[in-house]
Amino acid sequence: MSKGSQYVCQQCGYSQVGWAGKCSDCGSWGSLVETFVSRVKERESKRVKVKISEPITLSKISSGETLRISSGILELDRVLGGGFVQGQVVLLAGEPGIGKSTLLLQISEKLNPSVYVSGEESARQVKIRADRLGIKDTQILFLEENNTDNVIEILNSLKQKPKLIIIDSIQTMMTQDLSGLPGSVGQVRESTFRFLQWAKHEHVPTVLVGHVTKLGTVAGPAVLAHIVDTVLWFEGDKSLSLRLIRGIKNRFGATDEVGIFQMQDNGLTQVIDLEKIFLSKELRGVSGSSVTSIMEGSRPVLVEIQSLVIPTKLAFPRRIAQGFDSKRLELILAVLSRRAGVPLMDLDVFINVAGGMTIRETAADLAVALSLASAFYDKPLPPNLLAIGEVGLLGEIREVPRQMNRIKEAKRQGFTKVASSFEYKFVKECIYKLSTNK
Ligand code: TYD
Ligand code: MG
Repeated sequence: MSKGSQYVCQQCGYSQVGWAGKCSDCGSWGSLVETFVSRVKERESKRVKVKISEPITLSKISSGETLRISSGILELDRVLGGGFVQGQVVLLAGEPGIGKSTLLLQISEKLNPSVYVSGEESARQVKIRADRLGIKDTQILFLEENNTDNVIEILNSLKQKPKLIIIDSIQTMMTQDLSGLPGSVGQVRESTFRFLQWAKHEHVPTVLVGHVTKLGTVAGPAVLAHIVDTVLWFEGDKSLSLRLIRGIKNRFGATDEVGIFQMQDNGLTQVIDLEKIFLSKELRGVSGSSVTSIMEGSRPVLVEIQSLVIPTKLAFPRRIAQGFDSKRLELILAVLSRRAGVPLMDLDVFINVAGGMTIRETAADLAVALSLASAFYDKPLPPNLLAIGEVGLLGEIREVPRQMNRIKEAKRQGFTKVASSFEYKFVKECIYKLSTNK
């Protein structure tokens, strides 16, 4: 932070020269962000020429067909709403090591020619990854650079317009017009803005990789997500192979879509047969196992819940849940004990969602309850049973969103028996009738 730079207060908007720690107008501490002040000469040489727009009446604007550019990976196209759009700027955020660079290298192979700008890894490192992924003779232009203005200058000088630009990562990019270090709020914001201007002007889709902080938000300014068109969240447990890409914001499509991948030795592969990774056919009919359907975007996905209950040796029995909210588990245990006559309060309880999926909806409540009851009585549930429904505090089974869709999909996959609010009113009745085969 140098003396001569311009700073703007994030609280009151007052701009001031030099960084004095607190705003000289409103007096708030730590709210000053270094900001670029355009000087005519630099603006002409470095930035994209600003075109003055003219107002047009809405009726004269043709909406046209949005031209979609396929990424070559179906699961990613699904999250994007059918593919990239010209000039679209996408922020791909995720923890380090989750697979962002791998995925982007795989897409850049398909969208030729593309430019891969890396401020993080050397050309050699990227080449090693490309070899591992089996990427050979393609026109991926690799650029080891972290100066935003140099990148833009190089992009402008290319003879053939690239089909895709990848910036890995935005936190490593900087412009010399600001004195802050790469990754500082001012630098990230200014670099994003310059890439965005270039992408919109040249109509080239651009993907910015974003780092994630320990708190699970994108590092850098909060405005980053507002500036870009699309925010994709890359998630998954690094110790497992499952990876999900979730659309958080999308100006060109729905936001509730999810792309499902597996990280393998030769890169990310799309998961087409979902049930293969979440359901184990051989283990059906074992006590403590039940199957439910959760929505991943607009797709119902069948997942298996596994439970184990054992006598506790502790004053406070353990409740361990993997892939399921442990508070919700406590609630279901209380309902089972009080409303369904399954006395689980003095037992250690473990539940697990097979395949590494995390359940965030209440539709799996009934399956959790049934799997616990099945583990407690050591009696398997029918092997072709789908359990779906929210469990209320009165022990009632409640309908969940898109219940019919989920049931239809499960029936298509051979689940002939269903336990839901359509068949049973209360959990107690459901457990009794299933155990007596009624
Ligand atoms: P990477 O794409 O470098 O992650 P990010 O850019 O999000 O930091 O992925 C790194 C991890 O992925 C690393 O632990 C190795 C693993 N990996 C595979 O399992 N298979 C592969 O084919 C590749 C390229 C990486
Ligand atoms: Mg990376």
